[in-house]
Amino acid sequence: MAAEIDVEGVLPELREGVRVDCSDNDEPVLLRADGSPVETWREGHPFDERMRRREYEAVKRGLQIELLKMQYWVKDTGRRMVVLFEGRDAAGKGGTIKRFTEHLNPRGARVVALDKPTERERGEWYFQRYVTHLPTAGEIVLFDRSWYNRAGVERVMGYCDDDQYRRFLRQAPAFEQMLTDDGVLLVKLWFSVSRNEQRTRFAIRQLDPIRQWKLSPTDVQSLGRWDDYTAAKVAMFRATDTEQAPWTVVRSNDKKRARIEAMRSVLARFDYTDRDDDVVGTPDPRIVGPADTLLE
Ligand code: ADP
Ligand code: MLT
Repeated sequence: MAAEIDVEGVLPELREGVRVDCSDNDEPVLLRADGSPVETWREGHPFDERMRRREYEAVKRGLQIELLKMQYWVKDTGRRMVVLFEGRDAAGKGGTIKRFTEHLNPRGARVVALDKPTERERGEWYFQRYVTHLPTAGEIVLFDRSWYNRAGVERVMGYCDDDQYRRFLRQAPAFEQMLTDDGVLLVKLWFSVSRNEQRTRFAIRQLDPIRQWKLSPTDVQSLGRWDDYTAAKVAMFRATDTEQAPWTVVRSNDKKRARIEAMRSVLARFDYTDRDDDVVGTPDPRIVGPADTLLE
């Protein structure tokens, strides 16, 4: 329960009589006591304005139709696709997955969001519980967090030991090589949120009743561990940004733009039947691209 966590203790932002304007539910705005908006999204962000709702809705609809075509193609040709969504807490993974799947046929598109490992799973080969969820012919599986937990939260929070961690960094590229060798289409997306924008999103989660469930004890603990997560992220990219399974980074301080560009980026890489290149367009390199171009 969020109420049991000492959120105010770690987020002093919340003591100042702030509130949330939820009139755009996709983009709640934190307001200071004087009514001015907190605009941490601007931090390191290449645009002056966030994407407007009208433009977002129109572009999103077109891209969702393309995602559906891509799904038909995966089904008709018996391909297997994995898209994994990674990033810091509150980076926008869940929200993006929701828009990806909104109009897909649930038969053939699944979201996998695993809980922390059970006692039994802890005794298994680390990748074993993920293997069970991999797609069969004709399926798309979206991983909301993935085996990369070991390189991020498990490393930083001490849920695995040094040996397990090092073994993971060694095995992950080999594991992914086996998948891609076997024909699995593997897309790895990293959602990147800036430090103060993450804090703002945590504050909003605490204040907005429909978001409170998203604020976990892990989130609150991770607030003081920004630099540890940064170090873990750098080590992870170094070990796992491979030719056969490269990372794609999505700058996600502007959630709408991030969702749109993430969709474009996935669609643009597959030559599915009837692809409408005018709709798919070119992913904006200021928002989405290879790890070495976008990682701060
Ligand atoms: P999320 O941000 O995905 O809503 P949390 O912030 O609660 O979830 O946890 C982050 C991740 O850390 C989750 O994938 C969760 O399974 C994992 N996790 C939490 N506790 C443990 C643990 N003791 N051992 C391994 N993984 C854990
Ligand atoms: C996250 O990235 O922690 C969440 O999935 C954010 C969201 O709900 O969009």
